[in-house]
Amino acid sequence: MQNAYTAKAYSAASETSPLAADTIPRRNPTDRDVQIEILFCGICHSDLHQVRNEWQEAMPTVYPCVPGHEIVGRVTKVGSAVTKYKRGDLVAVGCMVDSDHTCPSCREGLEQFCPNFTLTYNFPDKHLGGVTYGGYSDSIVVDERFVLRVPANLNLAGAAPLLCAGITTYSPMRHWGVTKGQKVGVVGLGGLGHMGVKFAHALGAHVVVFTTSPGKTEDARRLGADEVVVSRDADVMMTHAGSFDFILDTVSANHDINAYLNLLRRDGNLTLVGAPEKPLAVSAFSLIMGRRSLSGSPIGGVAETQEMLDFCGKHNITADVEIIPIQKVNEAYERLLKSDVKYRFSIDMASLKSA
Ligand SMILES: NC(=O)c1ccc[n+]([C@@H]2O[C@H](COP(=O)([O-])OP(=O)(O)OC[C@H]3O[C@@H](n4cnc5c(N)ncnc54)[C@H](OP(=O)(O)O)[C@@H]3O)[C@@H](O)[C@H]2O)c1
Ligand SMILES: [Zn+2]
Ligand SMILES: [Zn+2]
Repeated sequence: MQNAYTAKAYSAASETSPLAADTIPRRNPTDRDVQIEILFCGICHSDLHQVRNEWQEAMPTVYPCVPGHEIVGRVTKVGSAVTKYKRGDLVAVGCMVDSDHTCPSCREGLEQFCPNFTLTYNFPDKHLGGVTYGGYSDSIVVDERFVLRVPANLNLAGAAPLLCAGITTYSPMRHWGVTKGQKVGVVGLGGLGHMGVKFAHALGAHVVVFTTSPGKTEDARRLGADEVVVSRDADVMMTHAGSFDFILDTVSANHDINAYLNLLRRDGNLTLVGAPEKPLAVSAFSLIMGRRSLSGSPIGGVAETQEMLDFCGKHNITADVEIIPIQKVNEAYERLLKSDVKYRFSIDMASLKSA
């Protein structure tokens, strides 16, 4: 391809294939583009859902699939019309790389609701055809309007997960007005959950973590939880009935959501950010009694993502990461399925040089 160069990446060839070394085309930067050398990329559970085609009804996977939407790196080149970034800057890219810029959502800075957005991977690529390829790669080229600035004080490996796990938990808490003095629950202590705990704590809430892993209790407190409930203990769950202002559910697999709806106070809200493969059963009475509401929330807009990064800079918040070389990515996926992650895998992309 004339308008493209070859980048190194890790891809899956089918829903049953492990990820393996590959090469992919990337467009040569156009006037508005920023070319980025990727330094770290977080592993989101969505990468696993997508690689294994678990969301085939909503977003079928096109193969080869290069996942990764928690990207931090250094600018290597900018197009002639780029004004915000220059070579050498530390920057980040999250789950979106483009939108139409004209719809009502875009005009409100809510690009995550744009009907014509382009997700960072497995989405039609307007420039090269085929689908977009994500951050398990040595470089990426992105329109400057979807490039974020990383505060200088943040550790880069720990900053990468902010681009999805961070914004996905920050945005609904801001939307639902989580604030000092509220009682906030976070269900599931994985990548998203541990960021949810950090944000709810930083916003001044009384934070209760619900986990299926008793071994995570001490960590939950260190991360900012005021209380920890092992959710398999029905008696302890009951002691919290009707008491929460807001609950964030980050669970990646099927589970009983009514057990959490019943913990909301009158007019309380439970927001789903976890996206299990199968539908969840909701009891009408869990909502009717107490006029409770159940909602969902996808990632966040560009401006709010920058706001979240700046908030993290100010409060010195990053993800707790286990840094791995790209060669360990398949092992990391198996560990995600066992809830064995503390609390996000961050791929050191220097390892791709030897792949
Ligand atoms: N809405 C969005 O925009 C958005 C963005 C990113 C990710 N997601 C979705 O959010 C979900 C979580 O992603 P993640 O990266 O945080 O995953 P993760 O790191 O694997 O964490 C998920 C956590 O859920 C709990 N869990 C897992 N299986 C469970 C089960 N069978 N029953 C009860 N709890 C269980 C575990 O916590 P404990 O060990 O504490 O129980 C686990 O650590 C995924 O479905 C992902 O696709 C959505
Ligand atoms: Zn994600
Ligand atoms: Zn739009």
